Amino acid sequence: MPDYKLDTKCVQAGYTPANGEPRQIPIVQSTTFKYDTSEEMGKLFDLEASGYFYTRLQNPTNDYVAAKIAALEGGTAAMLTSSGQAANFFALFNICQCGDHIVASSSIYGGTFNLIAVTMVKMGISATFIPPDCTEEELNAAFQENTKAVFGETIANPALTVLDIELFAKVAHAHGVPLIVDNTFPTPVNCRPIEWGADIVTHSTTKYLDGHGACVGGAIVDSGRFDWMAHKDKYPGLCTPDESYHGITYAEKFGKEGAFITKCTAQLMRDFGSIQSPQHAFILNLGLESLHVRMPKHVANGLAVAKFLTERPEVDSVSYPGLPGDRYYARAQKYMPNGGCGVVSFVIKGGRANAEKFMNHLKLAAVETHVADARTCCLNPATSTHRQMTEEQLEAAGIPAGLVRMSCGLEDADDLIADLKQALEQISC
Ligand SMILES: Cc1ncc(COP(=O)(O)O)c(C=O)c1O
Repeated sequence: MPDYKLDTKCVQAGYTPANGEPRQIPIVQSTTFKYDTSEEMGKLFDLEASGYFYTRLQNPTNDYVAAKIAALEGGTAAMLTSSGQAANFFALFNICQCGDHIVASSSIYGGTFNLIAVTMVKMGISATFIPPDCTEEELNAAFQENTKAVFGETIANPALTVLDIELFAKVAHAHGVPLIVDNTFPTPVNCRPIEWGADIVTHSTTKYLDGHGACVGGAIVDSGRFDWMAHKDKYPGLCTPDESYHGITYAEKFGKEGAFITKCTAQLMRDFGSIQSPQHAFILNLGLESLHVRMPKHVANGLAVAKFLTERPEVDSVSYPGLPGDRYYARAQKYMPNGGCGVVSFVIKGGRANAEKFMNHLKLAAVETHVADARTCCLNPATSTHRQMTEEQLEAAGIPAGLVRMSCGLEDADDLIADLKQALEQISC
């Protein structure tokens, strides 16, 4: 596809039907694929020919959608996974093994934090967490001989901190390791981390890319720029023969552009099987077709709500990187001049009791453990996901009891603000 603009790619990239073929991406609802000879199938197994043999590894519907996400992010190859969790795990585990080490921003989604800080530690992969606002010296100091990857989120969920992608990429590259960025919140419509030096980009497609709260999914995109062979000793999985895959050396056979995703598919998808269903990929693509239209509205609603909340006496503080005066405003302007996302967080005065009262009076915004879809929702961690913690424990974890995370959907901003206003007014009743 020629280098069309982003809006055109959202609608049409990834799938170009030939004469007489379906206009919409076909759902290839088949676990397996038929061949005339064993020899032909053998070539696929040897990665000598490209094609499909079993949907646990690859399926055409998924590949069309992955190709669209690769085009949007400016990468050379991509794959879909069953969830965002699987995407982040695969992206890291594809280049880390027992005895290795990861440097990660401490400001990341709780599920990813747990993956790196607990589950991957059980696999013998250790991690050092550094604040997203660390200096270059502090970041340098986090590296060890065995560090194999740096990880962060463009806009972190739920803290809404903004990653200094250029700095993290520069330091990662100086140590000969790639930067992996989870770009779930801004989406490629608002930020393309590869343009700022990131090597691998991941997504929970469950969020804005789907955008309708319909399907759990994930994606991994490779920039095709990291030179694995130049760091051969660090990445034996990519740079030495894979005996579990007919002795292939991925970095030699598929080059910088294809090695990472091919290995991730051939090894990790084969062994862990976290494939996205082709039905989900089809639904995800419907979301992608309107991503460029939806994101500006999410951003406009987020900004309008954030501005309204700063003026309310019941609200102690508001975090929204697009809000002038926000701690991350300047960085957000640099990386996301058109805005970041529709998620706003704010702290209601009076702790858990007032937050609960507020939540109970919301009429339009739903109480939900989700973000980033068409319908506005709110979550008060102290009375839901973190309800076992005391007020002191919550404070220490940086989650004040009165904190509300609000994901602004695609409704009219006036209606969202009216809903917030009436619920806030209940607090003083
Ligand atoms: C930034 C981010 N990354 C990854 C995930 C995990 O994605 P999933 O729920 O699709 O597994 C989430 C989930 O909320 C997220 O917010």
